[in-house]
Amino acid sequence: MSVNKLNNNNIYWQKLNVSKEDRRKNTGHKSAVIWFTGLPGSGKTTISKNLEKRLFEMGIHTYLLDGDNIRHGLNKDLGFSKEDRDENIRRIGEVAKLFLDAGILILCAFASPYTKQRRLVRGLVGRNEFIEVFMKCPLNICIQRDPKGLYKKSLSGEIKGLTGIDDPYENPEKAEIIIETDKSSIEESINIILDYLKKKEVI
Ligand code: ADX
Repeated sequence: MSVNKLNNNNIYWQKLNVSKEDRRKNTGHKSAVIWFTGLPGSGKTTISKNLEKRLFEMGIHTYLLDGDNIRHGLNKDLGFSKEDRDENIRRIGEVAKLFLDAGILILCAFASPYTKQRRLVRGLVGRNEFIEVFMKCPLNICIQRDPKGLYKKSLSGEIKGLTGIDDPYENPEKAEIIIETDKSSIEESINIILDYLKKKEVI
């Protein structure tokens, strides 16, 4: 089913009675999208899970959307073709926008390998609401880590189209935060992001 076919002239946008600003007053902090992007094995899941725990302990309203989890449910109909990856990120962008409106600090951990996809999500949300975190890590280190054994399978030809091997990863050019995950510890990485959030008065 093509997404465009769902467009219908008889659908009207309903403005809710509770605004994003009202919700933010209730939580006592701003909402934003923290968008982790990087190669498989670059540390997106590890850092986002640990960061969410820290933010939660600080009393911040958070939620983490992780690529593998979302592909178990909402996006279980999607594979790894370019078209499916684009649709994966488009849907997540829309979900992130809803969480943003709900006043939640949302963390998204998706390979999101194409510049166009990340630009699309950035454009969906307001200025200063999208914080792109580039999990920068040399491919050979990701291959050594290989937490899910996918590089091994890809290099032996068992799977096709793995990001970084036979599907491209386009490095972000204007990420708000760059974490060199082969150089920074988990704790240091989390602190870099927390410092940024404080500096921008998100938390
Ligand atoms: S994305 O490219 O569409 O952004 P996403 O982050 O949702 O990818 O999913 C990536 C996860 O799916 C990886 O963590 C990995 O476990 C798994 N995966 C399975 N096949 C592939 C593949 N060909 N390329 C990348 N990730 C894959």
